[in-house]
Amino acid sequence: MKRSSNFGNWHSFLKVVVVAVLVLVLSGLGGVKLFAMGKVDTIENQMEVEKESEFGLPYRATEKQMQWFRDAKFGMFIHWGPVSVSGGELSWSRGAKRPFDIRGGVSPSEAGWEKLLVPVERYDNLYKEFNPVKFNADQWVEIAKDAGMKYMVLTAKHHDGFSNFDTKVSEYDIMNGPFKRDIVGELAAACQKGGVKYGHYYSQRDWYNPDYLIGDNSKYNAFMHEQIRELLSNYGKIDIMWFDSFGISDIEKDWNVDELITMIRGLQPGILINNRLSAIGSGKNRPKKYLGDYDTPEGRVGKFQTDRAWESCITLVGHQWSWMPGGEMSSFKECIDKLVMCVCGDGNLLLNVGPMPTGEIEARQVARFKEMGDWLGKYGESIYGTRGGPVVPGDWGGTTYKGKTVYVHVLKWDEDVLSLPAMGKIKDCRVLTGGKAEIVQDENGVRISVNEKDRDPIDTIIRLKLKSGVK
Ligand code: GLC
Repeated sequence: MKRSSNFGNWHSFLKVVVVAVLVLVLSGLGGVKLFAMGKVDTIENQMEVEKESEFGLPYRATEKQMQWFRDAKFGMFIHWGPVSVSGGELSWSRGAKRPFDIRGGVSPSEAGWEKLLVPVERYDNLYKEFNPVKFNADQWVEIAKDAGMKYMVLTAKHHDGFSNFDTKVSEYDIMNGPFKRDIVGELAAACQKGGVKYGHYYSQRDWYNPDYLIGDNSKYNAFMHEQIRELLSNYGKIDIMWFDSFGISDIEKDWNVDELITMIRGLQPGILINNRLSAIGSGKNRPKKYLGDYDTPEGRVGKFQTDRAWESCITLVGHQWSWMPGGEMSSFKECIDKLVMCVCGDGNLLLNVGPMPTGEIEARQVARFKEMGDWLGKYGESIYGTRGGPVVPGDWGGTTYKGKTVYVHVLKWDEDVLSLPAMGKIKDCRVLTGGKAEIVQDENGVRISVNEKDRDPIDTIIRLKLKSGVK
């Protein structure tokens, strides 16, 4: 696996540094020392992380560090790699057993998946054919910006073990295929240049690495820590570390998560970490301290939750993360419904795209993103920088608010009058999507009606100005 002969030395060095930092953190000097060792944005931020953490180590980002994420609402998830050559699902189409994982002991034929699978000998060699010469990171960033997306998260390494970046600790990476360009590096740089936040998706699971969960996990764990160190040292400012769950194992014994978090926040103190460091296999064992900064409901809109940030990750085409040729794409209405429902629930939407093996994003997907961006261009004030509520969303839609302004998003008119609970005295009302609304308010609540011809088939947005702010 290893290309660099001095990796062992590096690892020992890293261990020494990490242990030293742990000692300093525990002795109360951590903020200063962490600052001294890493690329810290400001020392105040780092100190604040530690002050606010309920567990001692910097397990959580601060609300201040979370602010951009809270405001951003909409991001692009990118699942990409050599698998796109086959058109199959990333990692899950690899025709091999998956020890220590969901249905891992079951052979693919028993599970009836053979049709969906790429034989392992072929799957593990697809990287030799993966040559996406039309990949243009600046263009992808433009596509995201035109869609109104404020951040991007790319699979740096997925469960299949392939690294989309120049790693010194594995031969199974983009530099060893024909393409020889660091995809992660190019996209991170393009995002930084274009003013879009950038995050690494990194899978702790690795079905390729022979050291993964073979009893003593220390060798694989060292490899993983080293890859994460590379990802957070070589690509400038990284805004998110998006983990996925571990295979079935013992989080305390097999994974040294404390060390990992200390290293991550030391190298990138402003970074946000999702909640999938806490998940092990069946999900029964989820240590609270590793819950990170936000939740990640998958394939669905998350529930109304205002005390902890969250982000739904949802595919745009079919139920496949990587490129699915001919897969059914969500309609514009479905996309807006998902975005609006996430935001009304006080969460974000990370909408997934699977680029083609050429390096391009399918034209039909680009067009869908553009439609969303045009819509956000008109109605973005009701989305960005808002919070979900005050009304709990329902089948009809939901509300967002900012200061004394409430935006009512009606996605579906079940009746001619929409009845909402009282939310404070309304002194002004405007239908942003055109036409007029009639408002009746009394101690029982607010009743809103809009003429049928003025109801927007996508989303009727009614802006209410309250006399005093939302509590
Ligand atoms: C699941 C899938 C993985 C996907 C991720 C995105 O963990 O196993 O393929 O990347 O969800 O949320």
